Amino acid sequence: MILSIESSCDDSSIAITEIATKKLLFHQKISQEQQHAHYGGVVPELASRLHAEALPRILEQCRPYFAQLKAVAVTSEPGLSVTLIEGVTMAKALCMALQIPLIGVNHLKGHIYSLFIERESCFPLTVLLVSGGHTQLIEAKSLDEMEVVASTMDDSFGESFDKAAKMMQLGYPGGPIIESLARSGDAKRYSLPLPLKQHSSIAFSYSGLKNAVRLLIDSADQEEYPHIAASFQSAATEHLIHQLKRYFKKHPPKTFAIVGGASANLHLRNRVTEVLTPYKAELLLTPLFYCSDNAAMIGRIAVELYLCQRFTPINSLHVSPRSKL
Ligand code: KG4
Ligand code: ZN
Repeated sequence: MILSIESSCDDSSIAITEIATKKLLFHQKISQEQQHAHYGGVVPELASRLHAEALPRILEQCRPYFAQLKAVAVTSEPGLSVTLIEGVTMAKALCMALQIPLIGVNHLKGHIYSLFIERESCFPLTVLLVSGGHTQLIEAKSLDEMEVVASTMDDSFGESFDKAAKMMQLGYPGGPIIESLARSGDAKRYSLPLPLKQHSSIAFSYSGLKNAVRLLIDSADQEEYPHIAASFQSAATEHLIHQLKRYFKKHPPKTFAIVGGASANLHLRNRVTEVLTPYKAELLLTPLFYCSDNAAMIGRIAVELYLCQRFTPINSLHVSPRSKL
């Protein structure tokens, strides 16, 4: 079995995955959303302290598995340095105490493997990764061959939902709040600019849209918020769709996936499904429960890394806020 730890942002999570069957045996996650809601976003120092409390509490429940552990895996990049260090330090201590190897995991690859928590992995894949920190289009050929073919020039898709919610003082995280508010709104009420319409290469940008939403909110009554939320969600999604359509013209998709916290958005899922229909492409989706940060996805990729004996010497595993796939 492998014990995996995730602490790259505001979720403290530990999982146990069986190596032979790749099955998830134990999974727990303690979210810090409520503690950060007050500030309208994640406060790194607070997040770090909350991980230091939550991770040992979850680990205590894993004691019965300790004797059967063959390795410990941990997210080491990308993420907030002060929160990553909590998981990495715990992982190193466990490896030393239990005399088992350490596996450093890239969080973004972890999100891609969230697709395979309940199934066998399959490649090649074209992946749209939409989270709080990233908006990337990735060509994933295998565990080792993953290439970012487009990414955001400023804010990420998920972050733009967080900022829109913050501007309307609706709380954090903004994604689920905006999505549910948008259900009672009219998406055609306001027309918002489509970002990077004339841009030559394929890329994403959300800062212009954020400013347009700010201007709308400044001049609107609260009764208009559902319509603003719906118009914003539609514009944010149509930007992704527009760039995907352009990309697909040159690279017709065969198997396409959406991963990351914001891939839980049903409007986005529906729009991508429509765009894929003419290509008869298969759409892979992460079970809703595993879209946001969790240790189950870290455990799932760690099994593959374990099977190729890809261990990280304890002294050379460092945390990094950024990463290359
Ligand atoms: O992957 P994740 O849990 O953390 C990062 O790795 O960043 O993603 C969190 C992000 C937040 O920005 C959150 O607002 C967004 O995903 N999100 C959503 C939805 N659920 C979560 N965005 C849009 N619609 C949703 N339903
Ligand atoms: Zn994430």
